[in-house]
Amino acid sequence: MTSLCLLSVLLLVGTSNLGAGAKDYKLALKKSILFYEAQRSGPINDQIIPWRHSSAMHDCTVGGWYDAGDHVKFGLPMASSAHLLMWGLYEFKDGYVEAGQLNQMYHMLKTPLNYFKAAWNAHAHKLTAQVGDAHADHAYWGRPEDMTMSRPCVYIDNNTPGSNIAGETAASLALGYLVFKQKDPNYANGLLSSAKSLYAFAKAHPGSFTGSGGNYRDGGYKDEMCLGAVWLYRATKDSNYLNDAKSFYEAGVPWALSWGDKKPACQFLLFQEGNTGYKNDVVGFLNQFLPGGNVKQLPCGLACRDDWGSNRYAGNAAFLALLAAKENINPTPFRKFAVEQINYILGDNHINGGCFSFEIGYGSKFPRKPHHRGASCPTHGPCNNSNKDSPVNSPQILQGAVVGGPDRENFYADSRTDYKHNEVATDYNSGFQGAMAGIISLQQHHQMPSVRTDCQCKN
Ligand SMILES: *[C@@H]1O[C@H](CO)[C@@H](O)[C@H](O)[C@H]1NC(C)=O
Repeated sequence: MTSLCLLSVLLLVGTSNLGAGAKDYKLALKKSILFYEAQRSGPINDQIIPWRHSSAMHDCTVGGWYDAGDHVKFGLPMASSAHLLMWGLYEFKDGYVEAGQLNQMYHMLKTPLNYFKAAWNAHAHKLTAQVGDAHADHAYWGRPEDMTMSRPCVYIDNNTPGSNIAGETAASLALGYLVFKQKDPNYANGLLSSAKSLYAFAKAHPGSFTGSGGNYRDGGYKDEMCLGAVWLYRATKDSNYLNDAKSFYEAGVPWALSWGDKKPACQFLLFQEGNTGYKNDVVGFLNQFLPGGNVKQLPCGLACRDDWGSNRYAGNAAFLALLAAKENINPTPFRKFAVEQINYILGDNHINGGCFSFEIGYGSKFPRKPHHRGASCPTHGPCNNSNKDSPVNSPQILQGAVVGGPDRENFYADSRTDYKHNEVATDYNSGFQGAMAGIISLQQHHQMPSVRTDCQCKN
């Protein structure tokens, strides 16, 4: 009797709730939120990331996120990442609740939302589109806390259109209203008021922002304006916004859902608003990424859209597939696809001997030398180019960041100088994180699909 009791106690201690090979999506979600905390610019008064402190306190618009491994604040990817993250919270809030991460998510979202509010001056008709010069910034290797180069600002105003950035920033502010309105109505109302005036400005001054020195050059603005209009419609129920959104609709099969191209998002959101004919666009877009589509399938199943930052396109497509499945569009294949993409990123692969998680800090094998300035610096002492070129592991573990990933030749190297495969970025984690919330929601509803197990990491 005694030995039997002891045995069951040992068994309980020795096994987690997860079976062998199962992924801990809740842990991966928690870590992804931490990555965004590590990207904070401006004042930091907490110890969420022990090695991060206040920085760039004299920027024209203080706060927000550093974009990637560098310290520029680019308006388009910041808005686009915030939008995808909040969309994930809006649709899969139960996933955040189940993971015990709802408050952490609200806290994390205030960084971009406060920044967008501060960036938009409704009286002067002026929106901060970028802080920092990409050339000067990229020439510097070190901590953001130690930067001394000048950080010029680029603005959108009555004479300098940028309705792509303004449209997506308005979308994020309107969606911010929707996700915060129960938790903090005053805060939410302030976001909505900024969203309305910014959208009206963007509509009156159409055109794409082209002034970021070759970085994040966007093809058009209708897709971002569509998002702004849809979320303002959902926030206000004013049908003028819905009519606007339809006028910005672009049919066709987009290449990817990305920081630059939101057409797949616009197609899906308008499908949800009753345009059932747009379902074909949604399916056509997603089917490209499934086996048989035109996106290359790597061994173990990553849908590899591009050589640069493949994980991000897979994560974004997985997120959209889960949204489509929730609307009962091809739920079985789309859920299978989405879970397999996330499982691949979390270690179901043969990269570097197998079980390699592209999310830093998840599992036992993950990138140790990401292209990220701050993480490459020791807690104290100098940090410069020698830290970039050093072969040793980064002293700080950039918890939760997803690195670029393998290219179409299935090549990946954990090298700090390799920004195509091994950089991190705010946009890389955004769809990935939303997909994870969606998968946790599937687990809650007992809707997990059966997925391939041939590359399963059993550690
Ligand atoms: C760079 O940092 C190293 C220590 O990591 C230090 O020895 C070296 O002097 C620094 N170089 C410059 C140019 O500051």
